[in-house]
Amino acid sequence: MPVDRHDVAAVQLGTAAVLGGPVDRHEAVLEQFPGVHAVLGEVRELEELTDPDRFLTDRHVLRGRHGPILRAVASCGVGDHYFSSTPSVASRPGSVRLHTAGVDLELATDTGVFSQGRVDRGTRVLLDAAPMPPVRGPLLDVGCGYGPIALTLASRRRRLPVWAVDLNSRALGLTRDNAAAAGLGNVTACPPDEVPDDLAFAGIYSNPPIRSGKPALHALLLQWLPRLLPDGRAYLVVAKNLGSDSLHRWLEQEQGFPTTRLVSEKGYRVLEVAPRPA
Ligand SMILES: C[S@@+](CC[C@H](N)C(=O)[O-])C[C@H]1O[C@@H](n2cnc3c(N)ncnc32)[C@H](O)[C@@H]1O
Repeated sequence: MPVDRHDVAAVQLGTAAVLGGPVDRHEAVLEQFPGVHAVLGEVRELEELTDPDRFLTDRHVLRGRHGPILRAVASCGVGDHYFSSTPSVASRPGSVRLHTAGVDLELATDTGVFSQGRVDRGTRVLLDAAPMPPVRGPLLDVGCGYGPIALTLASRRRRLPVWAVDLNSRALGLTRDNAAAAGLGNVTACPPDEVPDDLAFAGIYSNPPIRSGKPALHALLLQWLPRLLPDGRAYLVVAKNLGSDSLHRWLEQEQGFPTTRLVSEKGYRVLEVAPRPA
């Protein structure tokens, strides 16, 4: 599908490219605008644009009619990323409903935390695709945000300890509050360095912070994946246009973790990662 250059305004704003319209149009934009590295989803609501995880490349591309939205985005502090350890953006509490197999939760969210306005699509794909958690734990959610993954795991396996780690203190507070409100005493939300060094995990789940860049992402995965129990598995969800396939290759070919693509759905891949063979 040809891109109408008059219809497109490229702006230096953050790091992702966002364009309203169908996916084949996105692909055309990627081809024709070499400075743009990713085009994400359809822009329907302001909150999609204010979700910093969608700001991933060098510039945003927005169709002309999104000009007003763009100005609003520019004024709402895109620079205060959700992975700030202590978000400076003023608290604006909200809530989202998470409904997935066997789990129905009302979760508190807030500004300065990933996907505050709705359960992220990738997170939903992960929760729907991952098999029921193992019956023996412990389980780990890497980058828990306000806790949709950790709390789903904890609801599905109420007797298993579920660790939820994040660098963002507001996210950890929300996860704790959400676990308490749901009566899930099996969740421990803490910064990564508070997880006991000798714990190994039967299941690791993550919608990882792609936004932090490849070196940080790789370091994060190398911090946790070696802590899988011998028969443990990790489940990672990554958007296809954000490098799920190259991550798959890196995990398997460069790092030696047997990796399987579990599903490819709605633009996301869920990777199942096994421990390195002994
Ligand atoms: C894509 S968000 C996913 C949040 C949540 N799991 C969800 O599905 O809504 C990634 C999360 O990773 C966190 N994060 C970034 N770097 C991290 C690190 N080094 N260790 C732990 N969490 C990190 C961010 O603060 C963010 O909450």
